[in-house]
Amino acid sequence: MIAAAPLSVKALEDSSADLAVFVYEDAGLAGAKALPNALKNALAAKLKDEGFKGGAKEIARVELEAFGRVRRVFAAGLGKKKAAGSETFRRAAGALLSSVRGKREALAVVCAEQPLAIAEGLALASYKYEEYKKGDADKLKTLSLVADAASKGAIEKACAKAALGAEAVFLARDLVNRGPSDKTPKSLADLAESLKGHGVTVEVIDRKKAEALGMGSFLGVARGSAQPPAMVHMVYKPKSGAKRRVAIVGKGITFDSGGLSLKPAASMEDMKCDMAGAASVLAVFKIIARLAPKAEVHGIFAAAYNMPGPDAYKPGDVLTAMNGKTIEVWNTDAEGRLVLADALCLAAKQEPEAIVDLATLTGAVVVALGSKVAGIMGNDRRLVAAIQSAGERADEPFCELPLVEDYKENIKGNIAELLNISKVKGEAGSIIGGLFLQEFVSGIPWAHLDIAGTAFAGGDWASYSPKGATGSPVRTLLEWLESL
Ligand code: BES
Ligand code: MN
Ligand code: ZN
Repeated sequence: MIAAAPLSVKALEDSSADLAVFVYEDAGLAGAKALPNALKNALAAKLKDEGFKGGAKEIARVELEAFGRVRRVFAAGLGKKKAAGSETFRRAAGALLSSVRGKREALAVVCAEQPLAIAEGLALASYKYEEYKKGDADKLKTLSLVADAASKGAIEKACAKAALGAEAVFLARDLVNRGPSDKTPKSLADLAESLKGHGVTVEVIDRKKAEALGMGSFLGVARGSAQPPAMVHMVYKPKSGAKRRVAIVGKGITFDSGGLSLKPAASMEDMKCDMAGAASVLAVFKIIARLAPKAEVHGIFAAAYNMPGPDAYKPGDVLTAMNGKTIEVWNTDAEGRLVLADALCLAAKQEPEAIVDLATLTGAVVVALGSKVAGIMGNDRRLVAAIQSAGERADEPFCELPLVEDYKENIKGNIAELLNISKVKGEAGSIIGGLFLQEFVSGIPWAHLDIAGTAFAGGDWASYSPKGATGSPVRTLLEWLESL
């Protein structure tokens, strides 16, 4: 992780840095009220000379006299005004940062329209994964958003929110990008412990405690690995007491080989990402005291390797979850739902008013929705809608899949109550995952986010999120918690 050059706010006239502006294809400069007319006109003429049209992803650099000095001005295109939303600005800001970093030392971004999206784009794009390979030192030392006096307060707020969100997103990205042998369940539990204080308490449930609690489903998955599992339970309590209580629950498979139902090599390549749900929970808890939501928040994650070791659980095994339900394992590669079964039971035991789980659960959701849209399922209209609207604010879309009652038939066991995969092959894989999880939430309002497609990108994902871990859906969770 590299820290973003700290965002600050400056008055235009104070800034000696290079300038940056945003430009619509059909409506000229965006929100540049703060710029004097003469400067705006000169800039428009120069950009026209350069052949710059203001299309999305377009970046241009010109030089002109501004505030008594010749300066470089970077322009980032936005495309057509009608189609431009917050994501347009976030991406344009990301593209801007990528084209400037490594080249310039100080940049002042003119920012009167969509300040939050711009600040987020700049902050999120400054990420590089450097745990194993150091990149070149970043030249960009100061990054400021320039504004007129009237919008200074709003922009300051936007910068603070963007920086806090980026800090959380960067932790999630670092953890998901890390090699699988370097993120044992124990090390994730240790990291959770390190987040104690400021209203956060942490309990680590090791194998022995998990046995005592009856977490047979979780423990079954962990049997194939020499590395012991860890069920981690964090709690944030607001200083002034809370009226509401919610739980977020993450899948933390630190590597998914498929177990004895071994995956083919190509499907295994990216399976270090299978703890992205847990990483999101840790990311939220890293900053939760500063986010200071009004609700009491429980953060739970089930961390284990899914490996085909000598004592690995086997197809045909029957596991018993914490709520007493018995599960016939037909495929050891449907392990996420098994570790989540006990994590959800633990969450339900806290009697929260809402449970949200985050899991890289099914390849089927990648087929259905791709890498930009996550799946959402749930037993409560209002909760699903609340998450979707938080997702809209964060520009992390969630598409709802129905929990079709009729399909419950397909996960009825022969010798146990439930099956961990569907009897009907090749149908509704993501929904089956959701229906299985629903058996462990005790009827509490619950939403399941299937992030198998969105948490990890095989290619470049957006200008503000390079190849690899995206940090999604951390910003959605922060939006949701803030809204409680
Ligand atoms: N971790 C995988 C799902 C996954 C796939 C995550 C692609 C990220 C990218 C999950 O544990 C899994 O193996 N699911 C199986 C379920 C099947 C056996 C019912 C799948 O999707 O094939
Ligand atoms: Mn699997
Ligand atoms: Zn998995």
